[in-house]
Amino acid sequence: MNLLVTGGCGFIGTNFIRYLLNNSDFTGRIINVDRLTYAGNPENLADIEKMFPDHYTFVQADICDPEKMTGIFDDHDIDTVCHFAAESHVDRSIVSPDDFIKTNIIGTFNLLETSRNRKNRLARFHHISTDEVYGSLGKDGYFVETTPYQPSSPYSASKASSDHLVRAYHTTYNLPVTLSNCSNNYGPYQFPEKLIPLMILNALEGKPLPVYGDGKNVRDWLYVDDHCSAIWKIIRHGKEGETYNVGGDCELENIKLVEMICDAIDNRIGKDSDKSRKELITFVTDRPGHDQRYAIDASKIRNEIGWTPKTTIETGLDHTIKWYLDHMEWVDHVKSGEYQSWISKHYK
Ligand code: NAD
Ligand code: TYD
Repeated sequence: MNLLVTGGCGFIGTNFIRYLLNNSDFTGRIINVDRLTYAGNPENLADIEKMFPDHYTFVQADICDPEKMTGIFDDHDIDTVCHFAAESHVDRSIVSPDDFIKTNIIGTFNLLETSRNRKNRLARFHHISTDEVYGSLGKDGYFVETTPYQPSSPYSASKASSDHLVRAYHTTYNLPVTLSNCSNNYGPYQFPEKLIPLMILNALEGKPLPVYGDGKNVRDWLYVDDHCSAIWKIIRHGKEGETYNVGGDCELENIKLVEMICDAIDNRIGKDSDKSRKELITFVTDRPGHDQRYAIDASKIRNEIGWTPKTTIETGLDHTIKWYLDHMEWVDHVKSGEYQSWISKHYK
């Protein structure tokens, strides 16, 4: 397999490449194409590059550039695509949506066009998407693969648009696509703008823990390694044209999750001057258009492909907290990049 991974220097892409090469039966070649935005860090895979010179190649490129993409497909004889590259943070999409439209919609369209114009039909184009395309749930119910799309943020609307394009390329051009729509991921290498790493690092530094609104919004948490094993299973065993929802069976209110993070850090390294880190929790102005609840029904992937999540939230959080404690240099590097100037521009 000559596998093009887009966005492999980001959070999930990094974990996926590490999973394929270290923990799976993958024996092919990975070509990681990443533009290296604020969220992409090639340092994440520096050891992989050294250990697997025959199985891993990095190319810095923008998926929105058609000539570059055609050249990469030709040079590496790409037969399979796993498409992660995206602008991924809801709050950023609210402040400045432009890059979300470019990368998530135009970039996906461009990859689809490159794929359909190949002389040899691709073996698979797998598109990674989000449960946020379905909009918000009330107290009851779950997202299934046939739930109508009702995206709320520029981020989720751009992902919804890319999903429709991917399906249209299957229906119209018979491109062998699969899609997965997953819930909120957490784990190592996540950029510290997302809830879990932000709260871990702020708690370690004794800074306020900003919980939006009343903290009662619910997310379904999926440990990133479980997501990676699901994607690999779908690429090999998923049916062309099908969508699979991937969730962690782990619904939590944000406030409850933040309290769990505080307790886990207190237990691991001790309280700070006898004070529980929960005292750092600060309720702040809510996100506009904040979806109330996400929850995935993952019966289809469980029944048809035999995948279930393996990691409990307790184990996953503990592993994640330990990873951040052991990788403070990584944190310094990503925080001192463009991220820092963006934060100072938009959050003062
Ligand atoms: P991320 O923001 O950590 O990484 C995105 C990567 O894409 C970065 O390495 C970035 O440099 C790269 N990239 C951005 N624009 C690019 C462009 N134009 N050309 C090439 N590379 C570009 O994102 P993530 O959290 O790893 O998410 C990966 C995918 O999973 C996304 O498609 C996202 O929508 C989806 N997803 C994420 C979550 C989550 O909880 N993180 C949940 C559901 C779905
Ligand atoms: P986030 O990690 O941004 O993921 P998403 O918006 O894609 O679900 O946020 C997860 C939840 O945490 C969401 O309900 C918003 C909330 N949140 C906070 O309360 N405080 C924060 O500082 C952040 C970043 C998020």
